Amino acid sequence: MNKINCAVLGATGVVGQHFLKLLVAHPTFEVTAICASDARAGKKLSEMKEVVPGGIPQEFADLVFDPMDVDILASKNVQVIFSGLPADVARDVESNAAQNGIKVFSNAGSHRMDADVPILIPEINHYQIELLRIQQQKKQGFIACNANCTTTGLTMALLPFIDLNIKRMVVASYQAVSGAGYPGLPVMDISNNVIPYINNEEPKVCRETGKIFGHVENGTIIPREWEIFAHCIRVPTIVGHMISVHLELDGSTDYDTVAGLIRNYLPPAEVAGLPTAPEKPVLFTEQQDRPQPRYDVDLGTPERAKGMAVIIGRLEVNKNIVRFVTLSNNLVRGAAGGSVLNAELAYRLKLI
Ligand SMILES: NC(=O)c1ccc[n+]([C@@H]2O[C@H](COP(=O)([O-])OP(=O)(O)OC[C@H]3O[C@@H](n4cnc5c(N)ncnc54)[C@H](OP(=O)(O)O)[C@@H]3O)[C@@H](O)[C@H]2O)c1
Repeated sequence: MNKINCAVLGATGVVGQHFLKLLVAHPTFEVTAICASDARAGKKLSEMKEVVPGGIPQEFADLVFDPMDVDILASKNVQVIFSGLPADVARDVESNAAQNGIKVFSNAGSHRMDADVPILIPEINHYQIELLRIQQQKKQGFIACNANCTTTGLTMALLPFIDLNIKRMVVASYQAVSGAGYPGLPVMDISNNVIPYINNEEPKVCRETGKIFGHVENGTIIPREWEIFAHCIRVPTIVGHMISVHLELDGSTDYDTVAGLIRNYLPPAEVAGLPTAPEKPVLFTEQQDRPQPRYDVDLGTPERAKGMAVIIGRLEVNKNIVRFVTLSNNLVRGAAGGSVLNAELAYRLKLI
């Protein structure tokens, strides 16, 4: 089979280099172009600093950076873009690419709240992919976003509970420094420290969660109305966002019921078998001191889905209150892996 040519934008960054890792020997997509800031144009990937372990795969070492120019990418027959650009840069680049017929899978926040752009998490809202068809009627290509990395971990962990009539949720995150990109926070700020504020993170968690679980009506998404209170906190870990979640339900339940829901949760058929889809997207531990970023950040099978599963632990249920701690890989499930899975779903549904 002829593979689909794709470009990785932001290929020197932590998300970009995770894209490169995940796209080695991918059955559908072939990385044929890379871009970053202007100064990189003409240089080889092998000349760059590896900012994540294995982030400059041998297979792509000889690729040469193109200028960030959609016309050049289109002339190289790039059909798919995986974007790990900062939001201010991504806004115009991604719009231009979609206008030029390229299918964009983005990690940037710039287009997430656009009315016709879905924030796709296939296990939750594969049905929102219909918005991509609507975009394609207006322009040749489309933009599909994935969520902010904390929102992804939270919404994935909510999957088994979705029929429990959640009235209100209170969440507090413990977010790793890689969430801020490379080189991240100055060591003087984050070593031996915890920072109880991440710019604009809490509003993103609240509004993106509603949109992700929303339904499609007249070509737009009607968000699910939930009362969400979020504190987002930076902690001195490298990878893995942990979230403490407190759900208030309309009605009572018990531990065995909730534990059974988590254990028995299976992904929808639309997603099953995609190359980067974890067989069990939501895992459960009853070990008292888990999950921990050091041990649980790369969960997921098969091999290609490592880092794509989230894990729930510390479950406590008291009548209408359900509490737990969840952990997800912010760079894989919360970023590059999420976009690759979205592209695989779009390919399965013949949008690419
Ligand atoms: N880190 C996470 O956990 C995470 C999770 C979800 C979403 N995201 C989002 O993903 C995007 C990338 O994040 P990151 O963590 O990978 O950031 P990063 O490590 O700082 O990488 C940023 C990338 O963008 C490139 N870039 C910067 N300015 C540019 C410009 N003017 N023109 C072209 N390229 C430019 C950089 O290239 P140079 O090296 O040449 O400057 C680099 O390749 C951001 O929008 C972020 O919010 C990140």
